[in-house]
Amino acid sequence: MSDELQRGLEGVLVAESELSHVDGEAGRLVYRGYDIEDLARGASYEEVLYLLWHGSLPTSEELDGFSAKLDAVREVDDAVLDTVRTLADAGERPMAALRTATSMLSAYDDEPRADPDDDDVATTTLTQGRRITAKIPTILAAFQRVRQGEDPIAPDPDLSYAGNFLYMLTGTEPDDVSEETFDMALTLHADHGLNASTFTALVIGSTMADIYSGVTGGIGALSGPLHGGANQDVMEVLHEIDASEKDPIEWVEHARDAGRRIPGFGHRVYSVKDPRATILEEKLRDLSDSSGDTKWLEYTTTIEEYLTEQGLVEKGIAPNVDFYSGAVYDSLGIPMDMYTPIFAMSRAGGWIAHVIEYQQDNRLIRPRARYTGPTDATFVPIDER
Ligand code: COA
Repeated sequence: MSDELQRGLEGVLVAESELSHVDGEAGRLVYRGYDIEDLARGASYEEVLYLLWHGSLPTSEELDGFSAKLDAVREVDDAVLDTVRTLADAGERPMAALRTATSMLSAYDDEPRADPDDDDVATTTLTQGRRITAKIPTILAAFQRVRQGEDPIAPDPDLSYAGNFLYMLTGTEPDDVSEETFDMALTLHADHGLNASTFTALVIGSTMADIYSGVTGGIGALSGPLHGGANQDVMEVLHEIDASEKDPIEWVEHARDAGRRIPGFGHRVYSVKDPRATILEEKLRDLSDSSGDTKWLEYTTTIEEYLTEQGLVEKGIAPNVDFYSGAVYDSLGIPMDMYTPIFAMSRAGGWIAHVIEYQQDNRLIRPRARYTGPTDATFVPIDER
């Protein structure tokens, strides 16, 4: 047993996985061997979910059956909607509201709890995971509407996963560009190796706790500012630039002089431009072309070009997925504090896939801490202290 300390478990191999691979130097991300670009451009989020959960891309027939099962369980129980209302009235933050409501879903799931000794746990996890995945968009759209003083909109089973969310959020069926863009964003965020939230779900799954616990834990981990959330920071910067009517370059120079980091740049794994950023930049261009509003595109591309000229990108501090996703979501009319919940909506698919995969050859995750406290303290009863 090694006594070498790996703070933050950085670089420590803890599991084998066939789900996703990040090549940070080549700027490549694959899900089960398929390049993220091919999946984002050619497959729907439902196909990607099927790929992650079942191991291969579906045929049309398989996809129809899979989507039908997913669409059939989008509605959430009234008691959960009441809780969503209570949370919105209390001014709860969207990620915390999602965490509470997701946990509550298990109370209305009649699927019996799996017994790891007797049951096919993967089947139970898949059934429950499908329900969670189907219901998260309903919870989030309802939360957003009720806090705006509007009634929630019931899911439409005839719309795609992406299209239905935008419909429930806005009350109007999205146009093709918006639906396709949002679907792509979901695919791009579905999985990314053993990041903090996926590892959290895995730790919970390794105890053979149910998938409601795993997804709820994943949401908790993703809510931290060191994990989800940088796209919101980028959007705040873009608004700041807009409000100040400054040239974006002036803002960047000022930020760098003040020692501030540029949100949406740099990544622990990628040393080149994140492939997801390249795709989202293109989608932002499409959205800008279709709306005629090119402001965010101009600001983001100006900043990227400037930082490239300044040699930052060459040093490995290149645009990450968050640099363009905020502007994309804003163009779709999604409020800033819903960006991380949307990330959770997509990543739940990855968390569920990882738990199913890990439990096939489960081993309780139980690392050690080096004890640095005293070993010889003398106990004193409370009334003598
Ligand atoms: N803007 C300016 N400089 C940056 C930077 C950024 N966004 N990100 C990293 N750097 C610089 C650091 O200041 C440091 O410079 P130094 O060596 O002169 O001190 C160097 O790059 C390495 O930084 P470090 O924090 O060790 O890199 P990391 O791999 O641990 O950091 C992030 C990765 C994501 C935490 C970091 O790039 C960051 O904070 N980015 C902004 C937030 C963000 O976009 N997060 C979303 C990630 S998906």
